[in-house]
Parts: sequence; C-alpha cells; structure tokens
Amino acid sequence: LRVRKATIEDAEQLSSLLKEIGWFASFRDHSARESTECVKKQLALGLADDSHSISVAEDDHGKIIGYVSVHWIPYLFMSGREGYVSELFVRETARDQGVGGQLLGGVQAEARRRGCARLSLINLRNRESYLRQFYVKAGWHERGEAANFIYPLP
Ligand SMILES: CC(C)(COP(=O)(O)OP(=O)(O)OC[C@H]1O[C@@H](n2cnc3c(N)ncnc32)[C@H](O)[C@@H]1OP(=O)(O)O)[C@@H](O)C(=O)NCCC(=O)NCCS
Repeated sequence: LRVRKATIEDAEQLSSLLKEIGWFASFRDHSARESTECVKKQLALGLADDSHSISVAEDDHGKIIGYVSVHWIPYLFMSGREGYVSELFVRETARDQGVGGQLLGGVQAEARRRGCARLSLINLRNRESYLRQFYVKAGWHERGEAANFIYPLP
C-alpha cells in the first residue's frame, strides 16, 4: 500500500471508485466518460492551491483503492486552520484492512505539521462507518450539540 498526493491523471480511477461505491446518483446516471470529466474538473480545483489536500492509496499494481480529501479552512476566531475532511472512501474489496485508517492518520499528521487547531467531518448516523465507530476508534469526538444544515441549490 502506498499513500501519495493525487494528480490530475487520477481522475479516471477516482471516478470509477465513486461509481463503484454506488451512493451518488450523478455517477449512476452518467457515462464513465462524463463522470471522469466531472471528477477531473473538481480535482483540478482541489489541486489548484495549498488550501486543499487530496491523497490516494494505491495497491502494488497502481490501482487506487481509496482516497481522502481535506480543505484547510481559516477561521478568524481560531489561532490555526480547521482541516475539514470532505471525502474518505475505500473500495469495498479493500475495506477492513487498514487503508481508511492509514489515509485518516495521514490527514491527522498533516494537520499537526500545518499547525491546525482541529479537524472536522460529517458522518451520517445511518452509515456503517458511524455504527462501527470508525472515527471514535481513531480518537475523534462526536459533537452532539451541533446540528448540520445544508442549503440545497439546483
Ligand atoms: C469507513 C471507511 C473509510 C473505513 O476504511 P477501512 O479501510 O475499511 O477501515 P480500516 O480497515 O482502516 O479500519 C477498520 C474500521 O473501519 C470501519 N469499517 C471497516 N469496514 C467497514 C465497512 N465496510 N463500512 C464501513 N466501515 C467499515 C470499522 O470501524 C472498522 O473497525 P472495527 O473492525 O473495529 O469495526 C471505509 O470502510 C469506507 O470507505 N466506507 C464507505 C464510505 C464511508 O463510510 N466513508 C466515510 C464516511 S463518508
């Protein structure tokens, strides 16, 4: 297993990984080529500057088996940035073998190097990762007093 920073050439593999996860309607409804174009566009934004980090885990054959995406957000009321982990996905066939833990550990190490104040993420309560306490076991604390809002846009 090798963890490295993502490059724009990873778009196709990342797109196939997301399609395989099966959670996202846009990946079900679009062709592989359309999905790859969409991932490429977002990936380019994520690679454009130092306020995002996208890392991939690949196996011995160079196949991407997981990835993590973090955004380093400055808050005026905090002394260091918050790292917001927006995506952490491991292919189903590669789960439960330490890949997710290694990707998350890499984020925690980078946050320390960057002098961040904290990390945060959203984990839906009906997900297996929540039910199996993946983040709690990695030392994360659930903020029970917080409500998570979204404002949907067309
Ligand atoms: C959650 C996830 C990132 C963990 O990565 P992983 O490589 O499977 O996990 P590791 O092997 O490093 O760690 C093992 C722990 O991961 C969790 N886990 C393992 N398999 C899992 C699965 N199929 N689904 C969800 N969580 C799983 C458990 O907490 C497990 O600990 P346990 O065996 O004591 O219950 C990965 O399973 C995944 O991508 N799941 C689907 C997407 C997801 O839920 N992403 C995170 C929230 S958006």
